[in-house]
Amino acid sequence: MEDLEMKKIGIIGSGNMGSGIAQKTAQEGLSVIMVDVKPEFVEKGLKNIRTTLDEAVERKILRPAQVEDIMSQIQGTTDLAETKDCDLVIEAIFEDMDVKKDLFSRLDKLCDPKTILATNTSSFSVDELAQSTSRADRFAGLHFFYHPAKNRLLEIIPGPATSEETVSACRQFAQLTGKTDILVMDAPGFAVNRFFVPWLNEATRILEEGGANIPTIDKAAMESLGIGMGPFKLMNVTGIPIAKHSCESLAGKMGPFYAPSAGLRAQFESGELWDLEGEVEESILEKVAGRLSGAVFYVATALLEEGVTDMTDIDLGAKVGLRWRKGPFETMNRIGIDKAYTRVEALLKSWPDISVPDHLDSQNKKGEPWDIRYVKYNRDGELGRVTLSRPDAMNALNETVVKHLDEAFQKAESDNKTKAIVLEGAGKAFVAGADIGFFVKCIKADRLDDNFRFTEYGQSVLNRIDESKRFVVAKMDGLALGGGLELALSADIIVATPKAVMGFPETGIGIYPGLGGTQRTARYVGKELAKYLIFTGRLIPADVAHSIGLVDYLFAPDEIDDKILALVRDEKTVSKKGKKDEDLTPEFRQIKDMFADSNIEAWLSGRYLESDDPLTAKTAKIISGKAPLALRLANKIIDDGYSMPLSEGVKQELVHLNEIFSTADALTGLTSVGKGRPKFEGK
Ligand code: NAI
Repeated sequence: MEDLEMKKIGIIGSGNMGSGIAQKTAQEGLSVIMVDVKPEFVEKGLKNIRTTLDEAVERKILRPAQVEDIMSQIQGTTDLAETKDCDLVIEAIFEDMDVKKDLFSRLDKLCDPKTILATNTSSFSVDELAQSTSRADRFAGLHFFYHPAKNRLLEIIPGPATSEETVSACRQFAQLTGKTDILVMDAPGFAVNRFFVPWLNEATRILEEGGANIPTIDKAAMESLGIGMGPFKLMNVTGIPIAKHSCESLAGKMGPFYAPSAGLRAQFESGELWDLEGEVEESILEKVAGRLSGAVFYVATALLEEGVTDMTDIDLGAKVGLRWRKGPFETMNRIGIDKAYTRVEALLKSWPDISVPDHLDSQNKKGEPWDIRYVKYNRDGELGRVTLSRPDAMNALNETVVKHLDEAFQKAESDNKTKAIVLEGAGKAFVAGADIGFFVKCIKADRLDDNFRFTEYGQSVLNRIDESKRFVVAKMDGLALGGGLELALSADIIVATPKAVMGFPETGIGIYPGLGGTQRTARYVGKELAKYLIFTGRLIPADVAHSIGLVDYLFAPDEIDDKILALVRDEKTVSKKGKKDEDLTPEFRQIKDMFADSNIEAWLSGRYLESDDPLTAKTAKIISGKAPLALRLANKIIDDGYSMPLSEGVKQELVHLNEIFSTADALTGLTSVGKGRPKFEGK
């Protein structure tokens, strides 16, 4: 775990992938050395980066000054030796084994012994490349997806000799550059291409057999997966040669099922793009989608059986890397395992040498859905990591996630080999709150009991974390809203990076925090600031949260893991929550006075709207947009619970739960999410 510095990154090759990786890495504040063989290739790469960044300025995503900052972080060169003191060097040159091996053996000699070497190869064995160096332990695959500055997915591929430290360092690189990483075994096509490429190929087989025309196949794929381009249009954009080559490369290692269809080969020979014109045959859309999905289900379950990666990561690969609405395993669960089995069986009738993967066969016999884990437990040296792994939904808490959190936490608790437990979120967010859709469903179906049970169970899981004898650290490096912040508050300490942002948006959507947020916040920062945060829903960045004592420790992203380890090793580490009045900033000292008990009624009845004091008037205006009943109940619950033991205080949130969820404002608020500010009526 030590020595995980990740500040200077070398990128070899400034082509499509190399320049994109360089851009994203620099955009996230790391220094980049980008190397190519000729100055004009380096220049071309730099120009590509500038063009993409200028487009971002046009779309108002970046300011012109930021473009200059990013460009100044990238140094282009033809001198490989300039990468010698890099923490990580990523190779993104031509897909040619000998050229890559030669490059790695030179890098191995040139680079500092601490430098990690990585390959972005799509089709070669990571281990074979690692063997061309004397540091197979500090070597891994880092497989990016086009466009690497925009596509969030990163496959991290350790070879058999890759050390745990190297994997941790790669994960840190992923985190620092805003990637969603999945850990994949060194196997042909890794995870995503292994099912994506056969999916393209199967589309060409359907065409070749006369099963459907191109527009029908594209439409069936788009509708069933929720994507903007079907396989044929996609091949026209990304290149028919790449599709054919990817099929051949997989077939070379995995057998004829993966070989390019005669139709794909013929199209490649013709040098033409696919002709996308024609009438869609609506009546066969479902049949076509079924066949395409059969190919995906077959490969996905084979990947699982071979242990290439787990269901969660295969699904994430599809959702994040390919932007499919759901992953293969989620889709199988949705349509039913029996139907998924039938589709695979039907597909494999044409491939007598292949049988349905045993995993799928036995799942079908059991007649149960796949148990996809959304919270994972991993031992990482002295730390037990409980990771919420639903980054495509910003790790939002729903019934399943809370159950998995409970189970993963219990596993972590009983692992005596670790010194502490770290709660963390995969991807950019910590936890973006609770799944609003579930609340809406409960209200509309008149099933408030389900909502009650969910909240009560959630409370019990968070209480367990709070009361655990193990030392629990919440590592917050992104958004933590509502339930997410409540989860973090149940840990012993919250350690955040400046990227963390937190708040309680509940009263703005007609409800109040229900997983202990009213109670723990009041106990840590005082009733006044708790009421301020809950009434206003203000989102505060980590440094502000740290200044009021809601966050215990604040560290830079590239040092947070080392610092957590140091805190855990130091037995004197304690929570630093809460601040004395004199340590608060003048703004928060004023806010604390503003929310004294004697002023609360005036806030709740809108009397401060006409105040002469700008901060008071502004705060009153914000509060006037929140749901009045939710504000009153939140206030009452904070007051009632404050003098009780914490576990009793938390129960106060349940006492009023059905009352708040039965209000018209709760439905208005919860259904307004993503559609603009709701208008509350106080009913
Ligand atoms: P590209 O052809 O656009 O760029 C390759 C660059 O590497 C060229 O600028 C070339 O001059 C440079 N180069 C070649 N040998 C070099 C050497 N010895 N030292 C320094 N630079 C050298 O290729 P692309 O598409 O960027 O692919 C690069 C790698 O990424 C390949 O291994 C490919 O399989 C992999 N990959 C490609 C993806 C894609 O969608 N294009 C996706 C994921 C991985």
